[in-house]
Amino acid sequence: MEFKTVVGVLFLLGAVNCQKRDQEDPCQTKTRVVADATYCDRYWECVDGQAELYDCPNGLVFVGKHRGVTEGCDYPWRANYCEGRQQANGPLSTEHCEWLYGIFGHESSCTRFWTCWNGTATEQLCIGGLLYNEKTHSCDWPDNVEGCQKHPLCNDDANGNVPLGKSCNRYWQCQGGYPRLQRCPAMLVFDRRSRRCVVPPTEDCDVPTTPPPPPAEEDEPENVPAEFINLPPGALPVQNRNRPRN
Ligand SMILES: *[C@@H]1O[C@H](CO)[C@@H](O)[C@H](O)[C@H]1NC(C)=O
Repeated sequence: MEFKTVVGVLFLLGAVNCQKRDQEDPCQTKTRVVADATYCDRYWECVDGQAELYDCPNGLVFVGKHRGVTEGCDYPWRANYCEGRQQANGPLSTEHCEWLYGIFGHESSCTRFWTCWNGTATEQLCIGGLLYNEKTHSCDWPDNVEGCQKHPLCNDDANGNVPLGKSCNRYWQCQGGYPRLQRCPAMLVFDRRSRRCVVPPTEDCDVPTTPPPPPAEEDEPENVPAEFINLPPGALPVQNRNRPRN
């Protein structure tokens, strides 16, 4: 196996009018690691003076030594890594994971997705009203996510306001079914009944204390679910969200 590998390298380097791109010899480079000329999910490493061929972990492609998410390999969609080359290996799937490594959409939810590491799936949650975007493999505004435009928060009224937990100054403003996090103007509080910013006091909210508390304390009322507090970008593991809602 190692012998064949070495022969292959020498042949390619010696071929003058070879149609394939010449394969670089890793033993002739400083890093001792080079990309395979034909397959973007393979690389050559110089081991004891001999070029040896390696596969990236399943689902990843070679991007360079000390780069990528593991072993010099990265998610293929991060850049045009495979331009002009193909992947040698097909997907090895496990439950929720199309490939052993990657970020994949959820089967039944627009706000959730899976991160897969060596075939083990971890459920993730988009926060701050964001939805999982299959194209960018990240959380995104609902307007940018085809097929998931409407957010459950705005189901009752596509253009209404929705209370944010027990917060007295922040709320969701639905615009055509897309929620946006809003803050009442200074000295006003969000009234859950009228769903508007009003002059306090209301049933739930007193006049803001003077001087106002530092933003960090003010922004984290006890009973607001974690995913409704933070703003984009980002996601939280699902385990972190199972706090009781009032
Ligand atoms: C990946 O998982 C397999 C079996 O599930 C295990 O044998 C292997 O050592 C793991 N590889 C890494 C890099 O963790």
